[in-house]
Amino acid sequence: MATLLNGIRHLPEFLDREAQVRLVETVRAIVVQAPLYVPVLPRTGKTMSVRMTNCGSLGWVTDKERGYRYQPHHPATGEPWPAIPDELLAIWERLAGYPKPPEACLINFYADDARMSLHQDRDEEALDAPVLSLSLGNSCLFRVGGLERTDKTGSFRLQSGDAVVLGGEGRLAFHGVDRIFPGTSTLLKNGGRINLTLRRVNR
Ligand code: SIN
Ligand code: FE2
Repeated sequence: MATLLNGIRHLPEFLDREAQVRLVETVRAIVVQAPLYVPVLPRTGKTMSVRMTNCGSLGWVTDKERGYRYQPHHPATGEPWPAIPDELLAIWERLAGYPKPPEACLINFYADDARMSLHQDRDEEALDAPVLSLSLGNSCLFRVGGLERTDKTGSFRLQSGDAVVLGGEGRLAFHGVDRIFPGTSTLLKNGGRINLTLRRVNR
């Protein structure tokens, strides 16, 4: 594949099985407080195939009327997002190389037929902080390119327990999820994939 921009790191098997199991339990507890919802794209009003929720002082949301943004409360319940659990804050400290803690953790749930089209993560002011991603459950084909949508892209598999850091020159790299590979993990009883991304929003 095309060489990754500096600052993009793939850390296979970053979380061992035990840590993955614990993290799934943590995510399930968050989802009880802050239920998954169906995000809607701005302008077109099309629904995304991924279901989302967040933890943190801010959460990333999108709807037809107001578009992409961070906000301190859940769009359906109106409640503040649950706090980011300590185990995730510790991972940020280990991997992010950033002096401030993350403010948002976006939780993406992919059913086995979900995907995410090529995009940049650019709704944060703190572009000097990386986006730190953790994968749980079924493997996916992750695609990453350059700083322009038309730049050459390459893809590789992300497996349960893998971490990806999008930082440095690669902070604004286009990326997406082409597909999920059903039946590639026993971590989630009903299949699918969970992706967590930790983000610093304010500088
Ligand atoms: C995202 O870009 O928000 C998700 C990436 C992933 O699911 O690995
Ligand atoms: Fe993203």
